[in-house]
Amino acid sequence: MTIKNQFGPKGWAPENIDSLVGKNYLITGANTGAGFQATRILLSKGAKVVMLNRNPVKSEAAITELKNEFGETVEVSFIEMDLANLSSVRKAAKEVLEKEFQIDAFICNGAIAQIAKQEITVDGFESQLGVNHYGHFLLCGLLFSRIEESKGRIVVVSSEGHKMGLRTIQFEDMNWNRNYHPNKVYSQSKLAQMMFAYELQEKVKTAGKNVKVYVCHPGASNTSLIRESASLATRLSWAFMVKIGLAQTAEKGAYPEVMCATEDNLKERAYYGPTGVMNFGGPVGECKLEPFVLNKDVLAKLWTLSEKETSFNWLL
Ligand SMILES: NC(=O)c1ccc[n+]([C@@H]2O[C@H](COP(=O)([O-])OP(=O)(O)OC[C@H]3O[C@@H](n4cnc5c(N)ncnc54)[C@H](OP(=O)(O)O)[C@@H]3O)[C@@H](O)[C@H]2O)c1
Repeated sequence: MTIKNQFGPKGWAPENIDSLVGKNYLITGANTGAGFQATRILLSKGAKVVMLNRNPVKSEAAITELKNEFGETVEVSFIEMDLANLSSVRKAAKEVLEKEFQIDAFICNGAIAQIAKQEITVDGFESQLGVNHYGHFLLCGLLFSRIEESKGRIVVVSSEGHKMGLRTIQFEDMNWNRNYHPNKVYSQSKLAQMMFAYELQEKVKTAGKNVKVYVCHPGASNTSLIRESASLATRLSWAFMVKIGLAQTAEKGAYPEVMCATEDNLKERAYYGPTGVMNFGGPVGECKLEPFVLNKDVLAKLWTLSEKETSFNWLL
């Protein structure tokens, strides 16, 4: 069933945003790719953006590029944070809370993908699950009250890849020690992010808190997501997809997350992104949300496990 695009046949685009002067956005992994482009769009509308990045050199280069485009007074800065390290996440969250009194939206954008060989983070997690899910789970928890005080929102950037794996969580072997597979593990990490978001919506509603949670995906976008850590076959097939034009620009890939961070007329129990062929590109709007993503038992079990693994109890 096709879902009618509420933004018309061309879908949502940054022209839908009026002014973001006075708004404050926080985004992970914004020195490059869709996160960088999302930052550009937000700044172009007058917002302030704080990037949470792991690499200071790349972050300074990104800031220089943004200042060259928008002028020296543009309000963009970065806080160093490695999502693969929970103590780094805690330190960055503390810095955010000390410096930023308003968070209109927190965009969980940073990620790694298709890591060819199993890698384990310092906290003992398979790296894709550790960076993409556990890092953001903890960060959202640490920042939640400030987001609530700001009547803000959380935006989770997932992937169509969430459908391409087990379509559930492999609780009996979360690190995939027995059956490591780069794509299935990435798929599980992006599914875990979505499940976290939908479970959080329920908890927010029950607790009567004033935070919105939205989920989106960027389609297939020409970014640096597939890197040396991916297998040669994956890198070659991605390069081929880009060459034949199946991947849209990183800027277009940023539209769904910017939309979820700024647009008023969205549903929470939904999944937004490009709606064209295979959702690779095309008009940005509502995509089909598969029932397996909302499996109540899996959502609850993942939440409990994530609290235990990150040693963080949400006060919700
Ligand atoms: N591109 C696509 O076709 C596609 C498709 C589906 C979903 N997505 C999703 O879109 C989002 C943006 O990805 P992208 O395509 O723009 O990829 P990208 O160009 O590789 O950008 C990823 C960003 O995440 C950062 N990052 C990686 N590991 C990190 C860590 N441990 N701590 C902090 N930051 C970290 C990277 O920093 P460094 O530069 O320092 O590595 C980079 O800034 C991701 O959530 C991804 O899963 C992308």
